[in-house]
Amino acid sequence: MLPLGYGVATASYQVEGSLGVGGRGRCIWDELCARPGAIADGSDGSVACDSYARTDEDLDLVAGLGVGAYRFSIAWPRIQADGTGPALVAGLDHYDRLVDGLLARGLTAMPTLYHWDLPQALQEAGGWPARVTAERFAEYAALVAARLGDRVTTWATFNEPWCSAFLGYAAGVYAPGVRGGDAAFSAAHHLLLAHALGAEAVRAAAPDAQVGIVLNLAPVRLDDDGDPDAQDHVDAIQNRLWLDALARGSYPTRLTALADPGLVRAGDLERVQGSLDWVGLNYYSPYRIALHGPPRAGVGQDVDAYPGAPVFSFAPREPLTAMGWEVDATGLVEVLRTLADQLPGLPVRVTENGAAFDDQGRRDDGSVQDDDRIGYLRDHLAAVEQARSEGVPVVDYVAWTLMDNFEWAEGYLKTFGLVEVEPGTLRRVPKASYDWFGRYVRGERD
Ligand code: FCB
Repeated sequence: MLPLGYGVATASYQVEGSLGVGGRGRCIWDELCARPGAIADGSDGSVACDSYARTDEDLDLVAGLGVGAYRFSIAWPRIQADGTGPALVAGLDHYDRLVDGLLARGLTAMPTLYHWDLPQALQEAGGWPARVTAERFAEYAALVAARLGDRVTTWATFNEPWCSAFLGYAAGVYAPGVRGGDAAFSAAHHLLLAHALGAEAVRAAAPDAQVGIVLNLAPVRLDDDGDPDAQDHVDAIQNRLWLDALARGSYPTRLTALADPGLVRAGDLERVQGSLDWVGLNYYSPYRIALHGPPRAGVGQDVDAYPGAPVFSFAPREPLTAMGWEVDATGLVEVLRTLADQLPGLPVRVTENGAAFDDQGRRDDGSVQDDDRIGYLRDHLAAVEQARSEGVPVVDYVAWTLMDNFEWAEGYLKTFGLVEVEPGTLRRVPKASYDWFGRYVRGERD
């Protein structure tokens, strides 16, 4: 069995700030944040962690952990302000320096091409429900790969396309904030098509590239009064839609009936099937399906994100994180087994795992105390080792996240970081979990 690599992750809109710099265009999150009530604390990504300007300081923090890799994302509107045409020099230069900064510190760059910041101009031209957006994505991917492909081999196309499609175009709680239903299935198909076209473009520009996609899969469990048919529907949208397309070139039949009949064109699914060199898994929590639960359970656990489902609710069981997400590391073992079963032989990267908890004050040395987070990481790292011992080819474990940042619709209220970013000063203050994870990756296990 290959040794397990370790890393930490961030995403462009959540950390960068400097939104008007270098000709960057507006994105769908800039627009959503401007909508009253869309973000819990009324905030946005305009300052975030100021990482665009503090790249070196942040890369030193990554290196200080002793991990081997940094997963970050590239902001499409920094490369093409309106999502089309030639690349902006300042944008490419920024990520070029970021990659060089990683290599200089002995770290591997693990970029994700799309972590939700769609250029607003493309949303106005139809967004992900429009097929043309997939073609635009492939052009953008080619520009980035042509510049970075001599130094980057591990590429991810999309982060959690389920969120883009179903939180973005059905529940409407994530950008672009469209409430509806049918458009979400069109978005999902075009995101998968864009992944396939983008992967082809990356490989054409960078022949050594290893291209993956990052999925947020989760076991869908049934509460005592839950309806198995609702469970099956949620599982179809959350998990099987993506896995069936990528592994077998098909969609779950209960979903095809809900989508626009002209959506899937001849040849599309052939391109999606077998398009992966590796698969990324973001795991936080299992889902639990009940009949009568609270109208809104954990963050993002929204029944409107599952169009066509029989009546159901989410009923997470304690212990819960600050997001209201059930803590259960056995779910991670379960999903890893599913991946090994569905995509046999494909290397798996846990590309995100971590937890938001309210931090518990300072230790004597000034660092932040966060025992809950340490416990969560310890249990989930043990789950990864369990899956590996059963033969699941997990090659990397990447923690979410390097530092507290803009947590989407929750603004700055929910903190997942190994490092605190002090509000106002933006001073980086490592938490106890930063020290703990650093010791763990160096092999000092308690
Ligand atoms: C995932 C996102 C990531 C972060 C975590 C908490 O859904 O990919 O950006 O917000 O959740």
